[in-house]
Amino acid sequence: VFLTQDELKKIAAYKAVEFVESGMVLGLGTGSTAKHAVDRIGDLLRQGKLTNIVGIPTSKKTEEQALSLGIPLSDLDNHPAIDLAIDGADEVDPHLNLVKGRGGSLLREKMVEGACKKFVCIVDESKLVKHLGGSGLALPVEVVPFCWKFTANKLRNLFERSGCVTKLRNDCEGKSFVTDNGNYIVDLYLKKDLGDLQIASDAILRIAGVVEHGMFLDMATTVIVAGELGITIKNK
Ligand code: A5P
Repeated sequence: VFLTQDELKKIAAYKAVEFVESGMVLGLGTGSTAKHAVDRIGDLLRQGKLTNIVGIPTSKKTEEQALSLGIPLSDLDNHPAIDLAIDGADEVDPHLNLVKGRGGSLLREKMVEGACKKFVCIVDESKLVKHLGGSGLALPVEVVPFCWKFTANKLRNLFERSGCVTKLRNDCEGKSFVTDNGNYIVDLYLKKDLGDLQIASDAILRIAGVVEHGMFLDMATTVIVAGELGITIKNK
């Protein structure tokens, strides 16, 4: 029996929710995989199997979903220490480094997931890569709208030797995509992988105009991978 990608996402998400205990402060991720986890947490709260949960959403979209499910919410100002976050990813390498943000929520995700004791990342097996940035898909970088082309050029020059092409992300109406924080996203497309990830990360963050990038290095404590042959749990 072949499972759809969405069914695999749901399997990984439900598995991650098994780590949730009553009384926890929870980071609630964003995207089509994390959505299943938030739904499941809502179900368990409604059934009384979980109580006393506080959710910290990583986007306005997740905030809306959680509110519609009756999940009590707060923020990092009021809950700077989070017990557990559950979120998806776009790429996962063998060291559990991630690329995130193709959904555009990388900044809030990085803030929330950086404040967690445990960060469980949930993916279907299509997200596994040998090297981040090598899958031909984008590495998202959140930039301030002010002179974004100047910032995009700096990014392109930085990765010139990797054949970097930059694109301002558009929304579905063809207008510039605006993040929850009022910024733009420049997507980097590379012909080669990123090389030393920490060096790449530091170099991107040193460019004035860059707010954050989608590499999540050494942040996931667990990755749950759902595949045709079952679930694999990788721990740091
Ligand atoms: C949102 O900005 C992203 O970081 C998502 O968590 C990531 O893109 C994974 O999304 P899907 O679960 O929809 O693949």
